[in-house]
Amino acid sequence: MKKSRPSSDVVITAYPNGPLLVRGDVEILEASGEPVPQRRRTMALCRCGASTIKPFCDGSHKLIGFRTEAPQEDES
Ligand code: FES
Repeated sequence: MKKSRPSSDVVITAYPNGPLLVRGDVEILEASGEPVPQRRRTMALCRCGASTIKPFCDGSHKLIGFRTEAPQEDES
């Protein structure tokens, strides 16, 4: 059975071991309220904390081995 999607122009996809991909017409603001310049309607937001261009992803998650799930414990 296919899940229904809420009616929205914005879709956020959490990529395993990577960023949040935001598709749609959204505005990102700094804490000061100033808008963060955006160049595209689709953007990747960092959730690993290592990006040098926050709030956007720069691919650093791969370099630091960021994982969205805890590693399986060895039961041997
Ligand atoms: S999620 Fe890609 S740099 Fe943080």
